[in-house]
Amino acid sequence: MVSVNVKAPTNIALVKYWGKNPLWEKFHIPMKSSLSFTVGDLYTETTLEVEDGSGELSFYLNGEEITPERKEFEYVDKYIKKLFELFPETKKYNYHVESKNNFPTAAGFASSASGFAAMAKALQGAMKELEPQLYEKYFADDAKLSVFARLGSGSATRSIPSEGGVVIWHRGIDPNYPFGPEEVSPSTKEHVIFSSYAESLFPAEHWPELRIIYTKVRKGEKAVKSRAGMKMTVKTNPLHRQWVEYEESVMLPRVVNAIREKDFEALAKDTMKLSNGLHAMMLYTEPRIRYLNDTSEQIIDAVLDLNESEVKAAYTFDAGPNAVVFTLAKYENEVSSRLAEIVGEENVFVTKMGKGPAFI
Ligand code: DP6
Repeated sequence: MVSVNVKAPTNIALVKYWGKNPLWEKFHIPMKSSLSFTVGDLYTETTLEVEDGSGELSFYLNGEEITPERKEFEYVDKYIKKLFELFPETKKYNYHVESKNNFPTAAGFASSASGFAAMAKALQGAMKELEPQLYEKYFADDAKLSVFARLGSGSATRSIPSEGGVVIWHRGIDPNYPFGPEEVSPSTKEHVIFSSYAESLFPAEHWPELRIIYTKVRKGEKAVKSRAGMKMTVKTNPLHRQWVEYEESVMLPRVVNAIREKDFEALAKDTMKLSNGLHAMMLYTEPRIRYLNDTSEQIIDAVLDLNESEVKAAYTFDAGPNAVVFTLAKYENEVSSRLAEIVGEENVFVTKMGKGPAFI
């Protein structure tokens, strides 16, 4: 039996991932690249025990056993089955997973990102012991490991690079690539699966003054899971394709440049535009998807108000009502107290960029 303990951070996207390549949906190949900050203090801790067996899974989340009829079980189960499909030798083991988040699960704080990053990292540790050849070929480097995290959940790809900081997840194959996995040779299939991976562009130390403020707006499960939501968008939103190409060719390079130059004003403006764009894509979906609530809108107004004479903050929202606000150390107190007036001090959490996953 091999037992591995790891810790993996969540990440917050500035350039968002919303939409999988329909032919490669199963392998979570995104239609466009995305970019995120690795978050310093929000993480998942996972213990993985692997022993001889026949591909059985048991899963505990935050101390509770997750039974097979639960959605969370299905996610992890599908994940290890993909692993068995790609590497039949991994099926001769049983997997016991215990995960703990230090933040609310499924409340829009991207627990699937840190969760599957931790899972992939733990598998890396286990494979090193149990299947050294497989490890050398597929698990030893961060780029490949990010692909394994991706097979669990797209956003987890960006939580893998060890250096953390600012991470890009490359989309890999063009969204117009005409063949699906059943129509190509095994080596082409492998090439396509590994074409979309993450890498760190700038370490966390690149911008030490940058602050990431999490504001918890409402406790509880999100309405439509992002997986189902983005699928609906790809299917029913006729503007999605244009959005994808615009962000890939115009917005992404612009944001990378603003970060390189540490130009907070440019970054803040684009960050808000990118978040608005994501939620516009959601609203243009049929039936419309709406994640923001009145409190989220109040936060948007407060940020715009703070920025009246000088740009001090930027908001971004994912598949939930919680806001993540970026600011600089010199504005931290002003911005966080303004947010606390809206959601209460206990729901405001200030952190910075951090490093990637590690064994503990
Ligand atoms: C809105 O990574 O949860 O947070 O790949 O289906 O597991 P799956 O989706 P998931 O989607 C996250 C979407 C987002 C934007 C982002 O993090 O880029």
